[in-house]
Amino acid sequence: MIKRLTIAIDGPAGAGKSTVARGVAERLGYTYVDTGAMYRAVALQSLRLGISPKDEEGMAALLDETSIVYRTGKTLLNGEDVSEDIRTPQVTALVSGVARIPLVRAFLVECQRRMGAEGGVVMDGRDVGTVILPEAELKIFLTASLQERARRRQLEWLARGAEVTWEEVEQEIGVRDKMDRERKVGPLRIADDAVVIDSTELDVNEVVDQIVQLALAIKGEETP
Ligand code: CDP
Repeated sequence: MIKRLTIAIDGPAGAGKSTVARGVAERLGYTYVDTGAMYRAVALQSLRLGISPKDEEGMAALLDETSIVYRTGKTLLNGEDVSEDIRTPQVTALVSGVARIPLVRAFLVECQRRMGAEGGVVMDGRDVGTVILPEAELKIFLTASLQERARRRQLEWLARGAEVTWEEVEQEIGVRDKMDRERKVGPLRIADDAVVIDSTELDVNEVVDQIVQLALAIKGEETP
């Protein structure tokens, strides 16, 4: 019997992946890994150093001198806790442009694979079930209507004091989703063996419950 599973949760922006993934990890006593935070950290570093994602040599040099660690919910960039700084509108606007660069993906995927190798992990992102951990025992593709995703994301921005309209958020996540779906390396897509959950009409606890039950069924255990 498999004791400590590897769980992959992928999906578009604003589908609730991180909240759900954190909840599932807590219920099962697993480690949560936010792969998007690591792409955001690379984007933050390129902003700080003024290196354009189009400058391949510049990005290669940046990666050579950058360490990105995601540990216990914190994102560390060269040892500095940047968990707040990676959530700004500037980083959000840049991140999908940075995430399309094959060099950046290779750099982070290697590190993310190591983080998932031991099992007992819930990892969320865009390519977890397809590229990072294709052997994951449970793969979820979490989605919701664009309207609902924009509504949720707007509430998050407002809670953090950023005045944004629903239209602005819809535009931002629409552009990001398109870039994430259309890139050549590690695009956002549903893994063949993924369970698709549409959370448009579900709250966080309902989604967490569904995923925990799927996990326990794989482990051959009853719901606690
Ligand atoms: O804003 P949201 O929480 O939906 O996104 P995120 O998980 O923080 O990821 C930010 C961006 O990083 C995504 O829009 C993707 O461009 C990129 N990303 C990726 O390419 N592959 C991943 N495994 C995770 C994120």
